[in-house]
Amino acid sequence: MKPIEEQVILVTGSTDGIGKITARKLAGKGATVLVHGRSRQKCEDAAEEIRRSAGTEKVAHYVGDLSSLAEVRILAEKISSDHRRLHVLINNAGVGAVKGQDGDPPRSQDGYPLCFAVNYLAPCLLTHLLVPVLRQGAPSRIVNVSSAAQEAIDFDDPMLEQGYEPFKAYAQSKLALAMFTFDMAERLKDSGISVNCLHPGSLLDTKMVRESFGSPMGRAESGADVEVYVATDPALERKTGVYFNEMKEARAEEQAYDAEARETLRRLSEKLTGMKSDHR
Ligand SMILES: NC(=O)c1ccc[n+]([C@@H]2O[C@H](COP(=O)([O-])OP(=O)(O)OC[C@H]3O[C@@H](n4cnc5c(N)ncnc54)[C@H](OP(=O)(O)O)[C@@H]3O)[C@@H](O)[C@H]2O)c1
Repeated sequence: MKPIEEQVILVTGSTDGIGKITARKLAGKGATVLVHGRSRQKCEDAAEEIRRSAGTEKVAHYVGDLSSLAEVRILAEKISSDHRRLHVLINNAGVGAVKGQDGDPPRSQDGYPLCFAVNYLAPCLLTHLLVPVLRQGAPSRIVNVSSAAQEAIDFDDPMLEQGYEPFKAYAQSKLALAMFTFDMAERLKDSGISVNCLHPGSLLDTKMVRESFGSPMGRAESGADVEVYVATDPALERKTGVYFNEMKEARAEEQAYDAEARETLRRLSEKLTGMKSDHR
């Protein structure tokens, strides 16, 4: 990888929680950091706070609501037109175990169950659309923030339309992101773009945990250290297709290693997002 001072790094969902601390730490190391969020005001405030605390002007911000696939496309276009090269994409943004109503899931702007849409479909589409600028930045890295909470997907009802359970929806969206990670790592092998995923730590003190998972047990800062490690550590130069449980290589839920299940998920994602996933 280039020296960090020459790298451009996008951290999605960096207006709060682990993502904001990750963006601050990366800016502190000298990277050009692209802050992202869904609220313009929170983006401006986070970017300004990071500039001040990291003592750098190399911070820009991008607004885009990941619950809309049209906004994901606009976000990718803006980033690609402003930056010819991207060195690291951290797909950090996410929603927790969001409650539904009368057994129905809350929905994205496109009408898909929210967890699956924001935690999986949006980063999947964003990544595909940013592959050209990541290629220009190669050697470059894609880091997907998954979770140790992973549950196998039943492809007869992949988005839990028939019986919505918030925790299951969250855990399945995080497994989908791990499956996508391994799939992309294979597809992008020899491209100079590595693709890994991680669990930042359990019940770290963030808005998501306080709102959907109960009392926090750890500091958000430690989750940011994991993200920075997987995004930048030179020792991981040749690692791709790996799931990190905090800073250790670990095994994801078994379905993530099932090539047929990954193919089914890829086809479904192409249908739902309209993307083409062949990057060879
Ligand atoms: N905290 C933990 O213990 C833990 C454990 C395992 C995995 N994780 C994962 O770590 C990542 C960061 O979570 P966190 O705990 O730091 O949560 P958080 O404090 O709630 O931060 C989530 C970030 O995602 C953004 N976001 C949410 N919905 C969005 C949307 N529709 N469009 C654009 N941005 C959106 C939020 O924006 P706003 O500021 O506008 O809300 C915020 O910046 C998530 O992927 C989460 O699943 C966290």
